Amino acid sequence: MASEKQAALQEATRVLQYILKDELTEDDKNRIVKDSIENFNEHVNPGWLTYRKSVSTDEAFVEWEDSQETFKDTHGKEFIDCLGGFGIYTAGHRNPEIVAAVQAQLNRYALHSQELVDPLRGYLAKLVSMCTPGDLKYAFFCNGGAEANEMALKLARLASGNHYFISTVNGFHGKSLGAVSATGKGTYRKPYLPIIQGVQHVEFGNAQAAEAAIKNLIAVGETVAAMIVEPIQGEAGIVLPPQDYLKQLREICDRYGVLLIFDEIQTGMGRTGTLWACEAYDVVPDILVFGKAFGGGVMPITGIIARPHLWVDELKDNPWILGSPTFGGNPLACAAAIAAIKFMIENDIPSQIAQKGEYFMDKLQGLQARHPILVDVRGKGLLIGLEYPTPEIGWAVSKGLFKRGVMTGGTLNNAKVNRIEPPGIISYETIDVIIARLDETLTEVAREF
Ligand SMILES: Cc1ncc(COP(=O)(O)O)c(C=O)c1O
Repeated sequence: MASEKQAALQEATRVLQYILKDELTEDDKNRIVKDSIENFNEHVNPGWLTYRKSVSTDEAFVEWEDSQETFKDTHGKEFIDCLGGFGIYTAGHRNPEIVAAVQAQLNRYALHSQELVDPLRGYLAKLVSMCTPGDLKYAFFCNGGAEANEMALKLARLASGNHYFISTVNGFHGKSLGAVSATGKGTYRKPYLPIIQGVQHVEFGNAQAAEAAIKNLIAVGETVAAMIVEPIQGEAGIVLPPQDYLKQLREICDRYGVLLIFDEIQTGMGRTGTLWACEAYDVVPDILVFGKAFGGGVMPITGIIARPHLWVDELKDNPWILGSPTFGGNPLACAAAIAAIKFMIENDIPSQIAQKGEYFMDKLQGLQARHPILVDVRGKGLLIGLEYPTPEIGWAVSKGLFKRGVMTGGTLNNAKVNRIEPPGIISYETIDVIIARLDETLTEVAREF
């Protein structure tokens, strides 16, 4: 055992040298690639590298640096990021202002005592309340998106005293036990059944179906706590709602005393061309859930903000009855989120994203007209889906783009749709480069199939 610990010490010392070095040698680079393949196969999951098909079948590209619009691998090969870490980079990669805030906080203290009052949590909660619509007021911070949805679902039950949740087919809310109950895809739910009881899934975009579900549940003596929905479904394959859908949901929820939760983990922080997607539809939820880009692409931080009447006495008597995540709302993460909010508002990034999204869509529609394998192009802002006739064609296009230095990816709940979700600060020149490379790739793939 002692010798194993010594070996671990040596290994940790070697790896730390890579982290602390400014420049890797050629030997270091080759060693890191070799180690990474071995470590993933031996200690992460033997299936991991083959599952990530579009990137790893031919060569193992090991990421090492990023900046603004791009990732670089250990050997300096650059990839334009069109995947955006599934939507975390509306402020770009390693945004200097956000990094500076985190570094300054790191030089003061990194994590909180859990006993004294941590000021950044309070400042951030106030800022979120100021920049979200309506009377959303009390915020609770966590670490991951699924965890934030857990908090939203728990708050809805706690505040209403009611039981059922309405969610949508193909919706994605994360994979923890509560969140996956609301998620609308069998693959992720089936192995864990029975999961949280009392979740009814209805068709997305169909307000009548939501109303019928609520009405029928109430008719048979059940109670409905909340409806949870993404304003635009992301992992379902970038599915936009009919224009009035969210307004209709608001009316239905009000009529039946059901709380409305918007999961804006992917659509928030400017991604769809407004700071929050719900602003474009002029609807205020009772609970808004945020994550991904909220930490400015630098730190992980997620959370919820809710209307004041949901903060019932039980929660005031014991604020930790909802949750008490050790790292939730930690000072480093809060510093990043505060800087991200400032960057978004000061530079009006949401409007820039709206304009770039229109430019991108226009060019993509041009490609669609010339390439029949591109069945559909849809989206809002820089949340864009490209649909192909089969998952195999979609995968071949991702792979072809990757070969040409453009990173894209599929959507978790719809294998036929690839996403274009680049950093919000992407330049028009880079959009043109992506379009040219996609054009070449579509020609190549059409020949192949
Ligand atoms: C709308 C939505 N909700 C929840 C999640 C889950 O977030 P996380 O992966 O941080 O748990 C995601 C992730 O893709 C998402 O898009």
